[in-house]
Amino acid sequence: MVEQGESGARNGVNSRFEQFRDLEPAERLKRVVEAAGLDQNESRALSGGGALPINLANGMIENVVGTFELPLGVATNFTINGRDYLIPMAVEEPSVVAAASYMARLARQCGGFLTSSTDPVMRAQIQLLGLADPFGTRAKLLNERAQIIALANSKDKVLLSLGGGCRDIEVHLFEDTPAGAMVVLHLLVDVRDAMGANTVNTMAETVAPLAEKLTGGRVRLRILSNLADRRIARARVEISPDVLRTQTCSGEEMASGIVEACALAIVDPYRAATHNKGIMNGIDPLVVATGNDWRAIEAGAHAYAARSGRYASLSRWEIAASGNLVGTLEMPIALGLVGGATKTHPAAQAALKLLAVQSAQELAEVAVAVGLAQNMAALRALATEGIQRGHMALHARNIAIVAGAQGEEIGTIAAELAATHDVRVDRAREILARLRGG
Ligand code: MEV
Repeated sequence: MVEQGESGARNGVNSRFEQFRDLEPAERLKRVVEAAGLDQNESRALSGGGALPINLANGMIENVVGTFELPLGVATNFTINGRDYLIPMAVEEPSVVAAASYMARLARQCGGFLTSSTDPVMRAQIQLLGLADPFGTRAKLLNERAQIIALANSKDKVLLSLGGGCRDIEVHLFEDTPAGAMVVLHLLVDVRDAMGANTVNTMAETVAPLAEKLTGGRVRLRILSNLADRRIARARVEISPDVLRTQTCSGEEMASGIVEACALAIVDPYRAATHNKGIMNGIDPLVVATGNDWRAIEAGAHAYAARSGRYASLSRWEIAASGNLVGTLEMPIALGLVGGATKTHPAAQAALKLLAVQSAQELAEVAVAVGLAQNMAALRALATEGIQRGHMALHARNIAIVAGAQGEEIGTIAAELAATHDVRVDRAREILARLRGG
């Protein structure tokens, strides 16, 4: 319950920055760079402006004509498993970074987030068709488990030397599909610090001819599944009501408001989609900043949310016997530290250095903690005054810029727009004209 100040930094990084929001970008960058011990190149990469040279971009995708920039913010105050983290977030939406930082600050007063995860096991699917005896085929494949695993592992000695590799198989059976009966062989592969798509796709293609030989069937698809339900990360946070209290709402009221808000997302897919979008507001910016595949994370998250047959909330909010609010989030997170843009994009490399995570599993745990913080921020606002007031106050800066404000004018105009609850460009233009003596 004691808020961690300077002495709260157990890994050398103290994520609690006072008045960080009030600084200019260059000053913020300086503080982050100093706190995380980044070098000049990493600092430059985080600062934007040419972070991704055109020749690198040209090597990453096809038909390159340029690069596309997003704001990169750093969420502060995160304590996860007793360690402080600074969270890089690349995102276009106002209030996301502020909300995550604020919730992390509340959580920090109660010990922060606790996380755990499974081994980083991805699935590949090998689709077999043209089978007269799908049940017999399934039994045959399971009989040959050792041979299948050995062949899958024959192609990637590096992964084996790192302690990864194909660990197991599953065989799924669909008796009735529009294309007849199907048997789907799954390879369960520990991909260690990779996102794993290339690894498991190669294994699936390697194993496919053996699957045909063993079964007499015909292989069509050989591809990973983004429903990475063997690669799960979990976060938990417990907040006492006195930390939740606001000027207009008691902590107990706030806690039960959050529980009631979550209850709708548990039973109603219309609300669950928005609730989960709020969770992804925290996760995606971290995924983007670290050069990872956000479409894969999104696909896995939403498929997992529908695993019961009905799409539902990924998180749960409860009130413990102690009266504390308890939030939990469990979902697939297929993130890598090696390969792809994580290795080639200088800003992604610098973002990973800032996070100072040692493994892809640790990165996944940080991601779910941020997702849970973001979810709590949204529910806290929605359960009380609604999100528009806070959101518009932050959005006011955008509007001021659109109206042509520069430098200090931006803050002045944004403050006036927010104070009058009238956040519109024409209003911002009027204030700007007045400020400039027009
Ligand atoms: C907005 O980007 C996200 C929220 O709609 C999430 C939610 O409703 O829980 C505020």
